[in-house]
Amino acid sequence: MNGTTVYPEVSIDDISLSLSSTKLDTTVVDERSLSSNDSAPTADSICELEFPESFEDDKIRSFKEFRSMIPYLQSGDAEKVFFNCSSQILLNNIVVNAINDFFANRSMSPDAEFMVFDKTVEETRQLYGKLLGLSEDDADKICYTRDSSESLHLIQESFQFKKGDTILMIDNEFQHNNLSWLGFVENHPELELNLKFIDTNGDKNFIVDGDSIAQYMDESVKVLSLSLTMYQSGLQNNVKSITSKFPDVHTIVDLTQDVGFHPVDVQDLGCSAAFFSCFKGLSVPQGLGILYMNSEFLSCTKTLPPFVNIKGLAKFDSNAGAIVEDFDLKACIHSSNALKYEHSNKPNLQIYASHAILGYLLNDLGMDNVEKYLKFLRTKMEATLLKHGIELFDGETKSPNIVVANINNPEWMKFFKSKKCTVSQFRYITRFSIGIYNSVKDIDALDAILMEGVEKGLKFLV
Ligand SMILES: Cc1ncc(COP(=O)(O)O)c(C=O)c1O
Repeated sequence: MNGTTVYPEVSIDDISLSLSSTKLDTTVVDERSLSSNDSAPTADSICELEFPESFEDDKIRSFKEFRSMIPYLQSGDAEKVFFNCSSQILLNNIVVNAINDFFANRSMSPDAEFMVFDKTVEETRQLYGKLLGLSEDDADKICYTRDSSESLHLIQESFQFKKGDTILMIDNEFQHNNLSWLGFVENHPELELNLKFIDTNGDKNFIVDGDSIAQYMDESVKVLSLSLTMYQSGLQNNVKSITSKFPDVHTIVDLTQDVGFHPVDVQDLGCSAAFFSCFKGLSVPQGLGILYMNSEFLSCTKTLPPFVNIKGLAKFDSNAGAIVEDFDLKACIHSSNALKYEHSNKPNLQIYASHAILGYLLNDLGMDNVEKYLKFLRTKMEATLLKHGIELFDGETKSPNIVVANINNPEWMKFFKSKKCTVSQFRYITRFSIGIYNSVKDIDALDAILMEGVEKGLKFLV
């Protein structure tokens, strides 16, 4: 770390204090919802939630507690059903309290202008490392960015492409990724890069694995850019089989639909680089992304990062002031780790919120339990949708929380809305995605809504 200033007002103890107060808030929310509306979920109804058979009691308690920390579900009427976490999970009081705490500390600190939260920044980096399956020593392979788009841009601009290299991607990848590569190739005509698209041929259940991608591979392919979980189908590309079959191709993975929903191990995936935006599965306010690069990929990057910033310098004395002649830029930029991409002024609010929610997910709930609970709910949801004769997107590898249904009638979207059921519909599909605050009761509610719609004569397909 470059900075040495310590700000006692924002010590880690304060953060743990705010976390424990988060738990106390559970009762407050329950009481508020009880008094505001008789039909609101009560402590009793929360206790009726079903859990997978093998779930341990203390985990059941933690998951129940989490549901009670979602203001949207605890306020107003009890009818609301939220199945749209592929867009963004509902905000929880762990994050809300961390944000309040951040501003309380900041407004009381005489050093607010220079508040850098070094300790929290580094602790949170360790937590993000743990979330990605990295050891403590490997945390410098990850850096904070603004979002997925910026992370991908950093990858593109720093990798040392050679004239005529090919970049491979799936034709229905998340639009930001496809557009970003189209733009990069267009902006660098001198490199004469080929952008080759894997043809999904309209197959809604399309995913790639080591075998199916083989026909697109040749000597010129240097980079494969793809999502682990495809945002529109919920199906997972078999990244591990690709990286083990094609170790010489740099596989770059978008984990935005994965992080916060199941354990991820970037080393096990065998990818060269990975990135995600933190607002989706972690409910951190927009403005923070994470970029990971393994050692081999880092060694293929240009010495100078696309944005040159003091934070990227190995040595800098902030008290001495900056005299440009003093810098031998090439000599003092970090060249061996991902910190060279980082800025001095970070999204501290988002990092502070991350510290709280990551601690909760990793230590209180455990990512294995998060995945187990989501899979349990997904199985129930799939059964419910199939019962109504709805066709589902399906495959051997799928995310634990996204269920995509062949419902393209916009009237259904209007009907879901009228029933306070939040789902997403785009192009030819309707996506129901599950968060850990959802319960079997929510799926029963969806069942009743589907039944009512069918009785009204609504057709799933038009
Ligand atoms: C697969 C995937 N990648 C990335 C993003 C977001 O990218 P960004 O935060 O850069 O806009 C989303 C959704 O918002 C997504 O579904």
